[in-house]
Amino acid sequence: MTIGFFDSGIGGLTVLEESLRRLPAQDYLYMADTLHVPYGTKPQDDVRAYILKAVEQMMGEGIEALVVACNTATSIAVNELRELYSLPIIGMEPAVKPAVEMNHATGKRVLVFATPLTLQQSKYYALVSRVDEGGIVDSLPLPELVQYCENLQFDKRVLEDYFRDKLSGYDLNDYGIIVLGCTHYPFYTNILQEILPPHIRIVNGNAGTVRRLAALLSRYGVAGRGSGKVRFMCTGGEPEYIDKMRIALELLRGNEI
Ligand code: DGL
Repeated sequence: MTIGFFDSGIGGLTVLEESLRRLPAQDYLYMADTLHVPYGTKPQDDVRAYILKAVEQMMGEGIEALVVACNTATSIAVNELRELYSLPIIGMEPAVKPAVEMNHATGKRVLVFATPLTLQQSKYYALVSRVDEGGIVDSLPLPELVQYCENLQFDKRVLEDYFRDKLSGYDLNDYGIIVLGCTHYPFYTNILQEILPPHIRIVNGNAGTVRRLAALLSRYGVAGRGSGKVRFMCTGGEPEYIDKMRIALELLRGNEI
């Protein structure tokens, strides 16, 4: 059984890493749309076309389930992908609902980080309207963080300055939880946690997504017959980008960032 993971770039590796830990008896095909990363600052119609094309390419590789390991791509195209293909498709959604629930008792606010395109979508607006009865959710686009990540920029000083600047307009004592609503962002969880007041928790949707994947696989009666093998593909920039993906996955698996 090969499970396909798709993202604009290396962000979906944060979801793949979770899946490799939880579902080690599967094989994986990871696809990055290197020709078009980043998605989050581009027009929606262009991004939709990029996603359909890249996923079509993956379908020719014999995957049996697809994880759209990208919040932006999920919000733009997951419904259409499900209409086009009959295999199980799992998408990502910013973990706003669990964050609001977890935060309930503290009386503090929730801050969601995501790409500009995700935050502009009616899907995001509908999600927040559904779960945020108390009006405690604020959203902040962080497009530069995707670019840092794609450049494997993990210099603490650079990132700390960046986060401090972005958060300078917020009184962090008012917040209890930060939601990472883009799969690139968990690369920076540790760096971010260090500059936040200790009461703030950082959450992402990766574990929830992999739990849904596991449930779906068992519903389809698909037993794992693989060995955690990962094959990488991208839409351009080979072989350098393949190396970059391997390095980034190793960093995540070794807890080095
Ligand atoms: N990793 C993606 C996400 O989860 C998209 C980042 C980008 O290409 O802008 O939203």
